Amino acid sequence: MEGEVFYPSTEVVSQAVLKDWEKTAAYALGDLSGFWAKEAGELEWFQPCEQVLDDSNKPFFKWFVGGKVNITHNAVDRHLKTYRKNKLALIWESEDGKCDRSFSYYALNREVCRMANIIKAMGIVRGDRVTIYMGRVPEIVFAMLACAKIGAIHSVVFGGFSVDALQGRIADSQSKLIITCDGSLQNGKLVELKRIVDDSLRHCPTVENVVVVKRSGHEVPMEAMRDHWYHDLCALPIANGKCATEVMDAEDPLFILYTSGSTGTPKAIMHTHGGYMVGTYSTLKYVFDITDEDRFWCTADPGWITGHSYIVYGPLLNGATVFIFEGGPSYPYPNRWWQLIERYGISIFYTAPTAIRGLMRFGDAWPNKHDLSSLRLLGSVGEPINPEAWKWFYHVIGRGKCPIMDTWWQTETGAFMITPTPVVPLKPGSGTRPFFGQVAEIVDEAGNPVEVGAEGFLVLTRPWPAMMRTLYGDDERYVKSYWSKYPGKYMTGDSARCDKDGYYWIIGRVDDVIKVSGHRLGTAEVESALITHPAVAESAAIGLPHEVKGQAIFCYVQLNPGFDPHEDLSEELRQHVSQHLGPIARPEEIRFIDKLPKTRSGKIMRRVLKARAQGLPEGDLSTLEE
Ligand code: WTA
Repeated sequence: MEGEVFYPSTEVVSQAVLKDWEKTAAYALGDLSGFWAKEAGELEWFQPCEQVLDDSNKPFFKWFVGGKVNITHNAVDRHLKTYRKNKLALIWESEDGKCDRSFSYYALNREVCRMANIIKAMGIVRGDRVTIYMGRVPEIVFAMLACAKIGAIHSVVFGGFSVDALQGRIADSQSKLIITCDGSLQNGKLVELKRIVDDSLRHCPTVENVVVVKRSGHEVPMEAMRDHWYHDLCALPIANGKCATEVMDAEDPLFILYTSGSTGTPKAIMHTHGGYMVGTYSTLKYVFDITDEDRFWCTADPGWITGHSYIVYGPLLNGATVFIFEGGPSYPYPNRWWQLIERYGISIFYTAPTAIRGLMRFGDAWPNKHDLSSLRLLGSVGEPINPEAWKWFYHVIGRGKCPIMDTWWQTETGAFMITPTPVVPLKPGSGTRPFFGQVAEIVDEAGNPVEVGAEGFLVLTRPWPAMMRTLYGDDERYVKSYWSKYPGKYMTGDSARCDKDGYYWIIGRVDDVIKVSGHRLGTAEVESALITHPAVAESAAIGLPHEVKGQAIFCYVQLNPGFDPHEDLSEELRQHVSQHLGPIARPEEIRFIDKLPKTRSGKIMRRVLKARAQGLPEGDLSTLEE
């Protein structure tokens, strides 16, 4: 094989659930339905499906047609009939480390039933949307599983988003119920979630009730009739006792999750009970090799797809023990995560390149203070990992004995798409090869395959169970955004290259999506937040390379008459974006410009701005307006 290769040790191979990668890959490619039918067969169905894959109406694929199922039945209920009843499902530690809580599968079921009974009492029925806007607390997991249990569609909004983002997502989903916390803690600072909900609800007439979980304990106004403390509701007789799990069609919606696209408002990605369940179960089983002895920690937030698939659903479907930490990597000290790995005996640790790069800067002494010998597998997700960070993760954290699963996937794909399993030889910075049953291609603008090793657009050519089914309420945009440029092929929006060994190397987004510290943001969202400030006439947001964050947001702003460019205004605008869209979207830098470069048809030429900001050649300017 070409380049630097890390081969798995005999110990890793002997332990792996799946030893023969090539054989399984060949089988799945030859019999896609057969492979997925077998995976689905490891889970419980109220009624088996009649057809594994229905591709008669492309690109509206259907999986496990006719099957009756519920994802919560498989993530929780089914374990209660086994020894797992007494096994730990969830372990949680607070940011300040003063509080930990743990739940067996039996206790998890009790909590999910309680939450589900309360959601039902709020008038929510099958198919209704419920917005969940919380910090990283166990109740967010209960809320998601409870919605699924009763057939309601959850729409989780990341707790790091602010008023504009939340309001837009509540309004678009027409949620009737919001589940939130009074506040959450981030690096010792209070994020006033309930106040942000109150501000958002001024323009969201569909919302009838707000359930508030007490976490921070600070004073929050409660609106009579609309707002209810969760602990008060729990004390009512309706909250207690069992709650039946709804029998759902495999293709019924499970959740929507808003994600940034290339243009316009965020897209409501829709996933289903059946396919998403089989996809997350199977990918986690093979890639992270979950066994009953493992303690799995995915450091993402449940508000992003990584949290949905690999904090909540994937691990619980596998009957694993999940660890959730409320805080971030380096508060109060840069050893916080390493301390937690030691304290809880974490064996599989899945995180993001930005966090690895950030922690690497603090030096080896912090991790070296801790016994990290419980670790056996590591994982990376969210953006390309640079070889330097990969090797630090491998040698310093994994002590040279833990393979790194670099998993490439997207909100839209629901589950891992290009990823190794523990037995696959690794090359730092490559996600290796497509997951079982999948074929990836690198094509040029016209859709023709490029030469081996050349850069091009990454497309996927085969359907998979966990694929999004549509954009909720907008089939047309679904087809246009993903399936129209290269008919019959799924357009990922990423550029990549594939080497002689068939290993894929992701380069980055080719659209207007920015990945800031692994968080997916759209230039359009940042620009709409800026435009609400009276000084701003027009603006253009771009993503520029950043040493730790991967990418950082950089904005060019054209001011309205009467406003002068100065440092205070620049700071005010950054603050404005942070308040409206969320602290994660705070621009790194604002630059004032007299006139934005545009094409004659009025489109902002971001390519030119990007080049200009980095002092690079501005390329072909022939389409630039006079
Ligand atoms: C990027 C996150 C390189 C990619 C799961 C993709 C990655 C976008 C990787 C989706 C990886 C994700 N290596 N790039 N291992 N994983 N990406 O929807 O650009 O938040 O298109 O899903 O993240 O971001 P999303």
